[in-house]
Amino acid sequence: MTQSRESSRSVRIRNFGAPAVLSIENVAVPSPGDGEILLRVLAASVNPVDLKLRMGAIPFFPSEGLPYSLGGDFVGVVEEIGTGVDSRFSLGDRVYGLTTPVSGAQSDYLVVDAAQVTHAPKAIDAARAAALPVAAITAWQGLFDHGDLQAGQSVLVHGGAGGVGHLAIQFAKQAGATVLTTCSADDFDFVRALGADVAIDYKNQRFEDFAEDVDVVLCLIGGDTQDRSWDVIRQGGIFVSTIGGSDPGRAAAAKVRTAPPFMAQPNSGQLDQIAALVDAGKINVVVSETYPLHKIAEAHDRLEKGRVRGKIVLVME
Ligand SMILES: NC(=O)c1ccc[n+]([C@@H]2O[C@H](COP(=O)([O-])OP(=O)(O)OC[C@H]3O[C@@H](n4cnc5c(N)ncnc54)[C@H](OP(=O)(O)O)[C@@H]3O)[C@@H](O)[C@H]2O)c1
Repeated sequence: MTQSRESSRSVRIRNFGAPAVLSIENVAVPSPGDGEILLRVLAASVNPVDLKLRMGAIPFFPSEGLPYSLGGDFVGVVEEIGTGVDSRFSLGDRVYGLTTPVSGAQSDYLVVDAAQVTHAPKAIDAARAAALPVAAITAWQGLFDHGDLQAGQSVLVHGGAGGVGHLAIQFAKQAGATVLTTCSADDFDFVRALGADVAIDYKNQRFEDFAEDVDVVLCLIGGDTQDRSWDVIRQGGIFVSTIGGSDPGRAAAAKVRTAPPFMAQPNSGQLDQIAALVDAGKINVVVSETYPLHKIAEAHDRLEKGRVRGKIVLVME
């Protein structure tokens, strides 16, 4: 069922709490302004940040800002082009991108800054393309912009079977790095098929027994995993976290550099590079489950339970 052009269903929260606070509201279809385009959204991923936001666990999005419209990345079809948009886009083009987690990408229609989107990969369907923007850009910027990973180096990816991790393994491998990763033992075959050289069972093994003098740690986990990581990085190596929270004292003692906490930033040039890799068959984008928009609460429940390989994606009916 496609929504009429007059209204757009949108995932919103008016209170913080359990998945029951998620509601689908009908809102007016927005019009694109200067430099913007209107998209009919085909699919939008569910990211861990959606869960944290829903629970009120992100100080940047306080209760004073409620209600929030959820969804920060998307694949959609160009429906209308605002003034001042360059000629890269035509009506009907399939594009993808990321914005903020409260941009309302989990909607039938979405207005976005044209600078933040680019053409989606052609070789994969909308659900798989929607799995990419936040996760892939986080992996890419974490490894290369913040981790400065180079060919011939080694990287330890903590959390390699999830949304960000399964792409980070592949990007690092493509770049000529040796990849070690922590994951559940059930995911060993999965991460090895993606290119991991060494898989470490985070529940029953100590990564310190496998990793030594790595050049980069990309930590998608935080906490104790982060605390134990300093000693496996070579002197002058780099620790990068997507969770925030760094420990300059421990880093200095271990003679390790820490990248400042970072949020994935929209970058259509990097999305173009990622789309080219996907279209060349060099990156396998894994969607474990899709949900229709109206089952958003089930999708949150599923991601919260864990043991998801790759991504969970909402597909607009
Ligand atoms: N800064 C940013 O811009 C940014 C962007 C994207 C994501 N993030 C954050 O990065 C984190 C990862 O995101 P994601 O999308 O990849 O999450 P995800 O899809 O939920 O994946 C997390 C993975 O970590 C594994 N895991 C859990 N505990 C672990 C441990 N102690 N050691 C090793 N692996 C463990 C899980 O495996 P099991 O299910 O088998 O336990 C799962 O495969 C989230 O906290 C997210 O909010 C930040």
